[in-house]
Amino acid sequence: MFAVQFDRFGPPEVLTTGRFPEPHAGPGQVRIRVEAAGVAPVDLALRSGRSPSRDRIPLPHIPGVDAAGVIDEVGAGVTGFAAGEEVFGTVDVARLGGASAEFAVLSFWAAKPPAMPWAQAGAAGTSVETATRALDRLGVRAGVTLLVDGAAGGVGSVAVRLAIARGAHVIGTARPESHAFLAELGAVPVAYGPGLADRVRALAPAPAVAPGAGRVDLALDVAGAGSLPELIAITGTPAAVLTLADFGGPELGVGLSRGELAGEPGGRHGLALAAALSEQRRFHVPVQEVFPMTRAAEAHAAAARGPRRGKIALIRHP
Ligand SMILES: NC(=O)c1ccc[n+]([C@@H]2O[C@H](COP(=O)([O-])OP(=O)(O)OC[C@H]3O[C@@H](n4cnc5c(N)ncnc54)[C@H](OP(=O)(O)O)[C@@H]3O)[C@@H](O)[C@H]2O)c1
Repeated sequence: MFAVQFDRFGPPEVLTTGRFPEPHAGPGQVRIRVEAAGVAPVDLALRSGRSPSRDRIPLPHIPGVDAAGVIDEVGAGVTGFAAGEEVFGTVDVARLGGASAEFAVLSFWAAKPPAMPWAQAGAAGTSVETATRALDRLGVRAGVTLLVDGAAGGVGSVAVRLAIARGAHVIGTARPESHAFLAELGAVPVAYGPGLADRVRALAPAPAVAPGAGRVDLALDVAGAGSLPELIAITGTPAAVLTLADFGGPELGVGLSRGELAGEPGGRHGLALAAALSEQRRFHVPVQEVFPMTRAAEAHAAAARGPRRGKIALIRHP
């Protein structure tokens, strides 16, 4: 089969395409003919050699943990899904790859709503699961005001849309040139970086202008850029803050969600929930740019560069 691959760690240019033996669905898995795949930070970290998991992946490696496509093989024990159905999801976390290819094996998936574009479905998997898990842990529900630090990126933009679908008011941080993007998503934008607490306090408290501004109940740190002390000051307690990316969180009393890629136990209901919300037109996966798989190196370079506004996706067909 056709696949994107790298046989040494390094910059995006180490990515090439080649022929690989086809994978097959094991028990509890489905194999899909891939239509689209996502590019996630874990893919960039593995390819560059920065990831502590680099010794766990044999080379050559097919990158990508998120994919969408049409089921063509159903593993033992799988019920409710059959060949020919369109699905989206994530690969086996232990393999940390395999999605950027003609065929991929999914361990977690949901039916793709017919109106959900392939690029959105392919890029959704880990961002949707990660954001859902984080919103659940924080207790995000209707009426609360949530501050998302790093709101314009792949996980942040999905968290913004899912929190709004729950009825929360959302304030999101981004660099100023991405504020219009955040406003389109439905969040009140503020600039990230030092002085965040003052800028959030200065937001107009009038609910008609910026619902919930002036009072922040919960905060989600997606960026891991050292803002936890300010997020604690803004919410008033470390118990109201969760980080996805700052390993210093627990020292400050802040919860750290290492997520499904680290094998952390937790509900895997995000995909089905997102599919249902998408069918009701209350959710979409913001996609910044789509590349054909043959240009995966450009896609990885784009994913590493700001400003980020949603997910980067790969489609199989040029
Ligand atoms: N724990 C888990 O389960 C899990 C799962 C997936 C991802 N993650 C982690 O979550 C992090 C974000 O993932 P992602 O997919 O959203 O990455 P991404 O798409 O690269 O987005 C990163 C975002 O952070 C913003 N940012 C950069 N510097 C910032 C700062 N100083 N303060 C606030 N925001 C800043 C960027 O904005 P600009 O582009 O405008 O600079 C961008 O919007 C990564 O570290 C990833 O490893 C964790």
